[in-house]
Parts: sequence; structure tokens; C-alpha cells
Amino acid sequence: MARTENDTWDLASSVGATATMVAAARAVASRAEDPVIDDPFAEPLVRAVGIDFFTRLAGGEFTAADLDGGHDGQSPVGMGRFADGMAARTRFFDDFFAAATAAGIRQAVILASGLDARAYRLTWPQDMVLFEIDQPEVITFKATTLAGLGAHPTTELRTVAVDLRQDWPAALADAGFDAARPTAWIAEGLFGYLPPEAQDRLLDQITELSAPGSRLAAEGVPSHGDVDQEELRERMRESSSQWRSHGFDLDFSELIFLGERAEVTEYVQRQGWAVAAAPTNDLLTRYGLVPLDEGEGFADVVYVTATK
Ligand SMILES: C[S@@+](CC[C@H](N)C(=O)[O-])C[C@H]1O[C@@H](n2cnc3c(N)ncnc32)[C@H](O)[C@@H]1O
Repeated sequence: MARTENDTWDLASSVGATATMVAAARAVASRAEDPVIDDPFAEPLVRAVGIDFFTRLAGGEFTAADLDGGHDGQSPVGMGRFADGMAARTRFFDDFFAAATAAGIRQAVILASGLDARAYRLTWPQDMVLFEIDQPEVITFKATTLAGLGAHPTTELRTVAVDLRQDWPAALADAGFDAARPTAWIAEGLFGYLPPEAQDRLLDQITELSAPGSRLAAEGVPSHGDVDQEELRERMRESSSQWRSHGFDLDFSELIFLGERAEVTEYVQRQGWAVAAAPTNDLLTRYGLVPLDEGEGFADVVYVTATK
């Protein structure tokens, strides 16, 4: 179903299902030989959501070959490479938090936390405060499910159930966020699901709330101002056609916002942040994974780190 201005979801529908999808990829990646990440909560969380296809994927029932049949190495990307990409991405943001806390930052915000289990699986300094922001059903589901599994956060976790297109800074302040303290922010797997102007607004708000010394890590998605959007959506549809043959039918091309959007690196640089950026292939190489071919899948995604 196409997106609307104030649409909502749970983890089995619309944009919420993408959180389940990436958690399933983390479960696959955690099971790899010599894994880049270890997320023991990914599989039980996906299982609890109950989308049969993702449950079976997370449980190791499919091989990449089962899902990528006919994939010719050209765009769209196959599931095996998707799991590698999610492993590298997860590790990148894990490493970002490790560096930020090593530098003395004690307040962090995970924007669009989905089924991210960092509050439960990473080792945090004792005096850390971690905020997670996502839509209400997403926040409640993860907290309830992990509590039901007997899992406890490894830090002081404060959840903020609000839409990031609404007044989330007010909700964050209500949860005890202190804008006078340096903060480590992450936006992982979020921007494509925000309209371009909402991405700009969010980056403006982060900048306003960031005391000197704050850090930001974000996944920047490409601007599609000059491409044939219908052709692009068609290619995305093709990439999930293998999944459809396994009984899972969600049109991801309808969930994202195409069109022209700001380039995150330049945008935050203009706001006074010192920025470094690495494309997907740098991350894959950094973590010992095989790089993507040029133009393949998410090769044009950029991982940004910035310090204010
Ligand atoms: C692809 S998932 C990524 C989740 C998580 N960051 C991860 O990498 O596992 C996208 C997430 O963005 C959240 N999201 C997208 N748009 C949002 C909005 N307007 N307000 C709050 N959350 C949003 C969804 O609920 C979902 O959890």
C-alpha cells in the first residue's frame, strides 16, 4: 500500500516489516562462518513477529541460493549479499557506538530503532543513557518480546514511542534527554522511508539538539532526482519476486520515497559537522566481506560519521 502522511504500522506490515526483514538478515549473518556480527536476539524477535517467510529465513531454512535463484550478479541484489550488507552495516554502527563511548559520550539516541537489540547485546559504560525512538507499536513489541524472553537491557534504556515526522524532540525531552550533554546519534536504515523534506528536518533537529562533541552516524541513501522512478520501482519489485515465490508478498518499492533528496554528507557538513563518508563497498572490505559490483543493489548507499 502506498505511503500516506501519517501512516502507522506494526512489525508485520508496511515499513515495520522492513525492520523484521533486516533483523532476519542479522540472524542469517550471525550464523555465518566467522561472523562479522553476533546478534542473538535477531532470530527470536523475528520469530515473535510471525511472518512465516522471515521466520524461516532467520531460522536458517533457506540458503542464499534458494532465494537468489536466477540472480545474475547485476542489480537487484540477492539475499546472500543483502545479509552481508546488513552484517557490515550493523558492525559499522556497533563500532560507532564503541568509539563514541570510548571518547566519553554517555548519552545516545537510536532513531528508528526497529528490532535493533544494541541496548541488550552491547557492553555499555555504567553511566550511559540510551534512548530508542520508533513508532509506538514497534517500541512496545520489542520491549514486550525481549522481556518475555527474559532479556534485560545492558544499559539504562528509555524508549520514546513517537513518529519521526511528528514532534519527536519534545517526546525525547519528556523522556529525559539532556541537550547540554554530547550525544551519539544513529540513523540506520531510516532515510529512504522519510520524505526528502522530513530527512532535512530531522538532520536540522539533530543538529539543534547536539552539544559540542556530539557524534552522528547515518546511512545516506542516494538521490533519485534524475532517474526514471517507475523503472527503478520495477527493478525493486523484481528483487523481491523470489520472495514472493516463497509466499511473502510486500512491495518494498511502495514503501520508500524516491525523487531528489539532500546528500547527507554535504547537508551536515554545511551545518558545521566534521564529516567522513564510506560507501557500502568500503564497509564490506573493512569487515572482510566481498564487495558488490558497481551499480549492484545498495552499492550507492553511503555511511556517514560526523562530529560536532
Ligand atoms: C529498515 S527498518 C530499520 C530498523 C533499525 N534501525 C535496524 O537497522 O534494524 C526501518 C525502521 O524505521 C522506522 N521508521 C520509519 N519511518 C519512521 C517514522 N516516520 N517514525 C518512526 N519510525 C520510523 C520503522 O518503524 C522501522 O523500525
